Amino acid sequence: MNAQPRRVEHQQTDKGNVPVYTTAVIEQPWASYSRDDHATWATLFKRQREVLVGRACREFIDNQQRFGMTPDAIPKFEDLNRVLKATTGWELIGVEGLLPELTFFDHLANRRFPVTWWIRRPDQIDYISEPDLFHDLFGHVPLLLEPMFADYMQAYGAGGVKAHGVGAEALVNLTRLYWYTVEFGLIKQDDGLRIYGSGIVSSKGESIHSLESPAPNRIGFDLHRIMRTRYRIDTYQKTYFVIDSFEQLMRATGPDFTPYYAELAAQSSIPAGNVLESDKVYQRGSGEGWLKDGDV
Ligand code: PHE
Ligand code: CO
Repeated sequence: MNAQPRRVEHQQTDKGNVPVYTTAVIEQPWASYSRDDHATWATLFKRQREVLVGRACREFIDNQQRFGMTPDAIPKFEDLNRVLKATTGWELIGVEGLLPELTFFDHLANRRFPVTWWIRRPDQIDYISEPDLFHDLFGHVPLLLEPMFADYMQAYGAGGVKAHGVGAEALVNLTRLYWYTVEFGLIKQDDGLRIYGSGIVSSKGESIHSLESPAPNRIGFDLHRIMRTRYRIDTYQKTYFVIDSFEQLMRATGPDFTPYYAELAAQSSIPAGNVLESDKVYQRGSGEGWLKDGDV
């Protein structure tokens, strides 16, 4: 047996039936992890470290190494927190799972990152429909050490608290931004397109699909376009958005979004797989290179 989460209830939302958990912050019950739990961590950790060489962005790889995570055992939040506290000041807190939006935003706005304390079962190694410890720790925590990204996450949380006051539509717009950057973002680096999104780096299949499959669109980052774009939670993404740098992300999201929400309310949403005339589409050039239309 492995350690099991305690669901509170299920809630019907526009994204389907999602589990809702208690909002309580809980101490990581490290001693209760079973051998299966540690083995699941080891399998996923080794596999992803291999897959991500040449695929994840350099900030992800470098920062992950600074934590000293190993396949030997599930890391202790306490140990990771010492590193975080000494660098960007973020703190990991244990939770049962997905939190209500406002609770989640409030944590981020205060540099607290909620991490699901339990890990998936052995039969869920390749796919689980909700975030678990592997996704949260392996996928999200490394970039919390990157100063600019660490600031972005906090600003996002503060923006979320504000959007919550604006209304449900504003929240939909802002959630799409999180989805297409924090969870499924790609970045153009000197050596090609690389992954920084946590939903990709914690999945072997999507790590390969996002960069190597001819199927999905890869489109240059455009804040308004992203906030209008629907997404899928049950399949690989049909579209990925590519930033040039974390600085670009900070700059684009710096302004007050209040007028943006008003403009967006008058515009229709864009289906997940559509390509627009105005999109800068990345294509694989000759050799290893990626070219965006408009590049010469
Ligand atoms: N600047 C945005 C606002 O005023 C908040 C935000 C910052 C959103 C960073 C996302 C990322 O609402
Ligand atoms: Co996530």
